[in-house]
Formats: sequence, C-alpha cells, structure tokens
Amino acid sequence: MVDDHLPIVETPKNSGRTLHWRSEHDTGAFARALAASPALRNAFIALHGELGAGKTTFVRHLLRALGIEGRIKSPTYAVVEPHEAPDGLAIFHFDFYRFNDPREWDDAGFRDIFAGPGLKLAEWPENAAGRTPIADLAIKIEAMTDDTRSVTLLANTPRGSDLLAHLGA
Ligand SMILES: Nc1ncnc2c1ncn2[C@@H]1O[C@H](COP(=O)(O)OP(=O)(O)O)[C@@H](O)[C@H]1O
Ligand SMILES: [Mg+2]
Repeated sequence: MVDDHLPIVETPKNSGRTLHWRSEHDTGAFARALAASPALRNAFIALHGELGAGKTTFVRHLLRALGIEGRIKSPTYAVVEPHEAPDGLAIFHFDFYRFNDPREWDDAGFRDIFAGPGLKLAEWPENAAGRTPIADLAIKIEAMTDDTRSVTLLANTPRGSDLLAHLGA
C-alpha cells in the first residue's frame, strides 16, 4: 500500500506513473511499499537518473526495508554488490557507471545473475544496454531545483505491472 506520503501527481497510463518525493523520507516510504510487494522477488529494476539523483539512496532504503542491516556498500568499484535478506532473498545491486569491458559480462558471471533468481537492481543500466534483460520496472529519478525529486515509474513486463498494481495503480 502506498501511504499518504506518496502523492500521485499524474497517471499517464496503466504502465506508468509519476511520483514526487519531497525528501528522502518519501524515498524511504516508497521503498517500504515496494518491499512489501511479492512481485519484487526475482524482479529486475533499472534505476535511471543523473549523478546525485538519488539512485543509491533509494537502493539503500529498499535494502533496509528488506531487512539488510549494517553498512551498505556502494558497488561503484565492484560493479555488483550482493546482499542476502534474512528470509534468504538474494539481492544484486549493480552500478554500471564504470562498466566498459564487455568481456566482464560473462567473466564476472553477470549473465548468470540475471538468468537466476533474486532481486536485481541496476544503476546506469544504459551502460549495459543489450546485455541485461528488459527491466520489469524502470524508475527514473530527477532532482529538482528545490531538491525534491520527480520520479517516473514505467512497467515493461507483467511482473512490472504487478509491482505497480501493488503500489496502488
Ligand atoms: N529524495 C531525496 N530528497 C533529497 N535528497 C536526496 C533524496 N535522495 C537522495 N538525496 C541526496 O542526493 C545525494 C545523492 O544521492 P545518491 O543516492 O548518491 O545519487 P545517485 O546514486 O543517483 O548518484 C545524497 O546526498 C542524498 O542524500
Ligand atoms: Mg549511485
């Protein structure tokens, strides 16, 4: 369920939605709502947005909501940071910002990760375009001049539509 802190500004169509995060508090509320969706397991979520948009911040809130404790490392240098939720859910946090070696895709096992079970989250998915599957849900975060965030959600698959529906579409 989406709580009162997640005002829906616009509903372009069933597959998409625009939200407005007034602060990181709203990022957290959205992350908790998403974490409660059963369709999240095995989902691939692509995170679009410029440097500083708030992609990693969202991932941290989502990992916390899924029960990950302790320091959450950013995967920028490792490309992928794996996590395991207390209920056994495998979560792979990718950051393709510095990804530029196509051989790494197979060598580092990224193909296997995307083919296997678990939740996959990817920052800078553009840098791995053509290698990743189509994202179930694309989230685009844009920082406004007043530091609030404009957020666009786009479902590309039935699983993505399930996620949106669970959020109250
Ligand atoms: N919803 C938000 N509202 C206000 N500030 C935010 C929000 N989300 C993130 N920030 C701030 O933006 C900065 C960059 O966030 P980060 O998640 O590292 O961006 P990205 O991963 O997209 O490069 C951080 O200082 C963070 O505190
Ligand atoms: Mg980041």
